Amino acid sequence: ASPVRCNAILSETYSNETFELADIEWDDLGFGITPTDYMYIMKCTRDGNFSKGELQRFGNIELNPSAGILNYGQGLFEGLKAYRKQDGNILLFRPEENALRMRMGAERMCMPSPTVEQFVEAVKTTVLANKRWVPPSGKGSLYIRPLLMGSGAVLGLAPAPEYTFLIYVSPVGNYFKEGMAPINLVVESELHRATPGGTGGVKTIGNYAAVLKAQTAAKARGYSDVLYLDCVHKRYLEEVSSCNIFVVKGNVISTPAIKGTILPGITRKSIIDVARSQGFQVEERSISVDELLDADEVFCTGTAVVVSPVGSVTYLGERISYVDSGIGVVSQQLYSALTRLQMGLTEDKMNWVVEL
Ligand code: COI
Repeated sequence: ASPVRCNAILSETYSNETFELADIEWDDLGFGITPTDYMYIMKCTRDGNFSKGELQRFGNIELNPSAGILNYGQGLFEGLKAYRKQDGNILLFRPEENALRMRMGAERMCMPSPTVEQFVEAVKTTVLANKRWVPPSGKGSLYIRPLLMGSGAVLGLAPAPEYTFLIYVSPVGNYFKEGMAPINLVVESELHRATPGGTGGVKTIGNYAAVLKAQTAAKARGYSDVLYLDCVHKRYLEEVSSCNIFVVKGNVISTPAIKGTILPGITRKSIIDVARSQGFQVEERSISVDELLDADEVFCTGTAVVVSPVGSVTYLGERISYVDSGIGVVSQQLYSALTRLQMGLTEDKMNWVVEL
């Protein structure tokens, strides 16, 4: 019997349904789950190959209690977005980068993974099947969440005998409750998100469970999120729970270098290229927490957070503020450049956008 079973529906049937916009309040989107119409499921058996996937009605899945993902956390996820253009067409942003990152993570987690082509095709199929949930232009985006999990049963510690690739989607707006207003971070010096040689550089599910304790405590104290330091020196910036970090000083924009403990964000990588194309000098290097004192602006990047300006960082009880009100000039400039590209409002010179 298959460990993941859903209320199956044939892939072909969705094409007869209407694609009017879903009837929801598009102005009130935050970053929460809205059940949509379809999810995509593709299985991989012991031979290491993924079979042809199919769309199924969005809903609960069934897992064996001894599935690898439930017992040993053998799982990865991805995040990407689809935007509706003003002409109604839908754009994806660099989906092959997510496919490649999932393949890299799968290698670290001893999992087989879909090919880049399978991944991108599956994303396109899922988005088209849920087309009515892509927000109107300018109202948000459709967040796409691919999962890769060890769905086969294991009891002794070992890679699972079967894997499931699943994609679900949800319309979303701003990630932080602050919206586009600057967020307030607190530096966490005791708890760590990642260790050298660990899995901090891949998008495994456990990395995100590990930040919940510090994040929950920070939120209870009124902060938006936590900024992590490296666990060896407890001195160098790593990342925020859900996003990468950038520090601006004059014309130089710096971000922690990718060294296995930092997630190689696709928005991070895109912002580096966009900033360079706009004449900024971008440095990927170790950034001491002391440099926060001296920075003109700080901002975060991620698929969910896009480009989020940071209003203050609190370190050892001392609050460092960046913008008196509103968004820093550089953060605003990079946010606009990136989102205009993602929404099809500027020429895609980098060839990053995929139109469905
Ligand atoms: C994303 O930005 O897509 C992520 O995966 C981060 C997640 C915590 C929302």
